[in-house]
Amino acid sequence: MRDTALPFDLERQNRFCEDIRPIMQVRARGSRPLALVRTYGCQQNVADSEIIKGFLAQMGFDFTENEDEADFILFNTCAIREHAVDRVFGNVGALKNCKRRHPSLIIAVCGCMAEQEKNAERIRRSYPFVNLVFGTHMVRRFPELLHDVLINSRRVVKNGGEEEDREIVEGLPVLRDGGYRAWLTIMYGCDNFCSYCVVPLVRGRERSRKPEAIEAEFRKLVAEGYKEITLLGQNVNSYGKGLEEPINFSELLRRLDSVPGDYRIRFMTSHPKDATFELFDTIASSQHICHHIHLPFQSGNDRVLKEMNRHYDREKYLSLVRYAKEKMPDLSLTSDIIVGFPGETYEEFCDTLSLIREVEFTSLFTFIFSPRPGTKAEKMEDPVPYEEKNRWFQELLDTQEAIAARRCADMVGKEERVLVEERNPKNGLLCGRTESSIIVEFEGDDTKIGTFCRVKVTRARNWILQGEEI
Ligand code: SAH
Ligand code: SF4
Ligand code: F3S
Repeated sequence: MRDTALPFDLERQNRFCEDIRPIMQVRARGSRPLALVRTYGCQQNVADSEIIKGFLAQMGFDFTENEDEADFILFNTCAIREHAVDRVFGNVGALKNCKRRHPSLIIAVCGCMAEQEKNAERIRRSYPFVNLVFGTHMVRRFPELLHDVLINSRRVVKNGGEEEDREIVEGLPVLRDGGYRAWLTIMYGCDNFCSYCVVPLVRGRERSRKPEAIEAEFRKLVAEGYKEITLLGQNVNSYGKGLEEPINFSELLRRLDSVPGDYRIRFMTSHPKDATFELFDTIASSQHICHHIHLPFQSGNDRVLKEMNRHYDREKYLSLVRYAKEKMPDLSLTSDIIVGFPGETYEEFCDTLSLIREVEFTSLFTFIFSPRPGTKAEKMEDPVPYEEKNRWFQELLDTQEAIAARRCADMVGKEERVLVEERNPKNGLLCGRTESSIIVEFEGDDTKIGTFCRVKVTRARNWILQGEEI
């Protein structure tokens, strides 16, 4: 294999898939080889795993969840917080026993953690039973890398990559997890460099897909019967930057919303600095876009926001929320929050509490600050002990719990449009999600699965609603 990148050639990767097919069949002693793909982290990784599974299916693999019967195990990893990284190292370490029981097992580690040289090196040094390590820009070259491992019986470690590896390629195979929900990446990377965040370091610069390519994939998903399509990007609100044809995110949304069909649209993640009134107007007047926005504010304090390099202040955030709620009184808001950013004081943390009381989010994703190698915040002074941060964190959870319970209780008596996804095996009730992404259970027959039902909420219990079909 060459170490310099050739211009990406999908046909070439397809040929590697074909070459791998008989090799794997022999290794699996004539039966269909089995792959286990475990995905950590965010939807971006889920989308990458779907491409890897697409390639694996082309190579003749079936899939399993059982480590002991797998011929190939891949962990697609996340580096967002230290805990995520530690967990992966622990789980990779545990694979040593699988390899002992099944010596021809191939083990691979990819994703955001593997993209960082220090981690790739640690795997190379301390986990000799891992055959293949590759970074986020190498997903498209996975067949070539696996082929190298199999043919040359050697370990392959490939992160970083050349400029060409960062250009967008279309037409990669995708094997979705089934169900009624699909993920559609509209942009890659991130240019924001929030001071705490590793994503720009492991996912590269921001690149938007062409609207024609997005629309073609979107139409295909609708035609295949997907009922909920989530548009993905680290900052979807800056979609379109750098494209030849001028287009912004609201325009893209309107273009997709005009595709006829029975489906709904979500998107993640919106950065408040690039959120516009036009975006909220677009959602309010759309046919298919959920009245739900995930709009992470991270901190309610202006000094902390500045240190985080977020480029908005509390007032700008609140003015966006006020406008959005005025346009959509039924709007559901969710957010991400970091507690204990370096130098944050208890008084500053209280500004976060007051903001969540003011906005009344449906739910929150809350994190204690974790220093990430290579980021600016890693080097900032961080005098508050972890136990203290943990107390603040608890206070945040308690505050939100009361708000969420109230918001759920407020939904009793209301009518909701629910996408029914499955039957809960425990209580036999149909189970689906509202536009605001809250779970609702109700009685009904199997024909309702995969359809939208109108449900009247009759009861709210532990963040799960119960209802009756109308
Ligand atoms: N692009 C998205 C966020 C992706 S990461 C956005 O800007 O909103 C998901 C969340 O993880 C972030 O919103 C943040 O709350 C959290 N996070 C990121 N880096 C972190 C760190 N170093 N420590 C703790 N939480 C972090
Ligand atoms: Fe990280 Fe900020 Fe980019 Fe989100 S916008 S991925 S938090 S750098
Ligand atoms: Fe983790 Fe990478 Fe996503 S670091 S949060 S999997 S972009």
